[in-house]
Amino acid sequence: MKQAKVIIDKDFQVSRIDRRIYGSFIEHLGRAVYDGIYQPGSPFADEQGFRKDTLELVRELEVPVVRYPGGNFVSGYKWEDGVGPKEERPKRIELAWTVVETNQVGLNEFSDWAKKAGTEVMMAVNLGTRGVAEAMELLEYCNLDQGTHYSELRKKHGYEKPHGIKLWCLGNEMDGPWQIGHKTAEEYGRLANETAKVLKGLDPTIELVACGSSNSHMPTFGSWEATVLEHCYDSVDYISLHTYYDFHDRDTRSFLANNVDMDRFITDVTHICDYVKALKHSDKTINLSFDEWNVWYHSGEQDKKLPRWTQKPHQLEDVYDFQDALLVGSMLITMLRHADRVKIACLAQLVNVIAPIMTSDTGAWRQTTYYPYWLTGKYGRGIVLQTLVESPTYETKKYGTVNCVDCVCVYNDEADEVVVFAVNKDLDEDIGLTIPLRQFGDYRVIEHLSMEHEDLFAVNTEADPNNVVPAPCGNSRVEDGTLRTTLNKKSWNMIRLGK
Ligand code: AHR
Repeated sequence: MKQAKVIIDKDFQVSRIDRRIYGSFIEHLGRAVYDGIYQPGSPFADEQGFRKDTLELVRELEVPVVRYPGGNFVSGYKWEDGVGPKEERPKRIELAWTVVETNQVGLNEFSDWAKKAGTEVMMAVNLGTRGVAEAMELLEYCNLDQGTHYSELRKKHGYEKPHGIKLWCLGNEMDGPWQIGHKTAEEYGRLANETAKVLKGLDPTIELVACGSSNSHMPTFGSWEATVLEHCYDSVDYISLHTYYDFHDRDTRSFLANNVDMDRFITDVTHICDYVKALKHSDKTINLSFDEWNVWYHSGEQDKKLPRWTQKPHQLEDVYDFQDALLVGSMLITMLRHADRVKIACLAQLVNVIAPIMTSDTGAWRQTTYYPYWLTGKYGRGIVLQTLVESPTYETKKYGTVNCVDCVCVYNDEADEVVVFAVNKDLDEDIGLTIPLRQFGDYRVIEHLSMEHEDLFAVNTEADPNNVVPAPCGNSRVEDGTLRTTLNKKSWNMIRLGK
């Protein structure tokens, strides 16, 4: 059998994990909000119209933060349309996704939903068609206690207490020519800085995310981050990264290696942040908010056929397969390996739209990608250990020689557990893995869950929701202070060790 080895040491630590690395995203897009989280009249609806079955799954995921309301949507959005009496809210043309927005859910309802879901709101402001003034008014409406125009308006709308939103995105993908109000790096950097100054002046407790590149292959990647940060380094806290991977070339070996690109992207953006830090002679460190990441391609062709200007169309409804779940597992491993700089990340998105949770009029179910996201978030807590991986390799068209095994080890100091997350990308062979446990030598195996399927394209559906799920695996044991296990061919694994 092929062999891999992992080296860890309790004292060699990357960073304590910021739980917000397990965040997600809900945009006014397709059936994410309407029919996804909100469906008045449905047998699943609560007294406010929120779907209880969706809420239950979101609570199970323990999502720490949800980005809202977009995405491309936010760059044409008037937040005022979504507050106040519902019957007075305008129906608007929504240009980003060519639909009609009814505004029956706005920021107040979403804040209520977030409370019910046990999560925090990460609010994006429109820097496409709007600017400093509207962003300031929105913050005033959300976070100021009382006695000013917009705080009193919120109270008039039935929200006595401020929402206290702590995390704010300064626009969305402003580098992208598809963005409403797309800007050059100079234009955006200036606007981001001026907006940031005003927002922090109003509420110094908030944190701000500036837009980085929409992916690492954007022609402006690199210079965009450097220019934007040269303008707003002192007034923002994070820079964003987005990436989606597709399978258009039908090459599984390259597809499963896409987290190599993610890894380079994170490393490059980290270096650019530190380059600007040096230019500025600054003591401040800008961290990374990977606030859109996922696999996205299944729905592409069918979305092209959708009629325009309808309400809640079935847009971006990717049905995820087993190989997508493997890549999602590897992307999570990659971000954890960079937990010293990636402090926030949002799986895009959460419900119906390129999402781990799907709904219909008759129920809600978990897609394949739900499982690595859920279990990594649930057990990947505490401190990321430096995880040295010696792995057999394979050849890819896209990335050359890559490791068959992705791995990260996390020490959960509260639960006193070491948790190993590992993906074996070898399509044909199992791989033996040994980890000398050093200071954890007296730990035993609590649980080894493995997600496997013969068919890389197997999916979960409403009719067959448990086709691809993780299952207990008997491959792991600790002998003489060393974990010995087998990672079955094409599998995602989580091994928990404790006393
Ligand atoms: O998540 C779907 C879309 O992808 C978002 O609206 C946009 O920001 C990105 O291009």
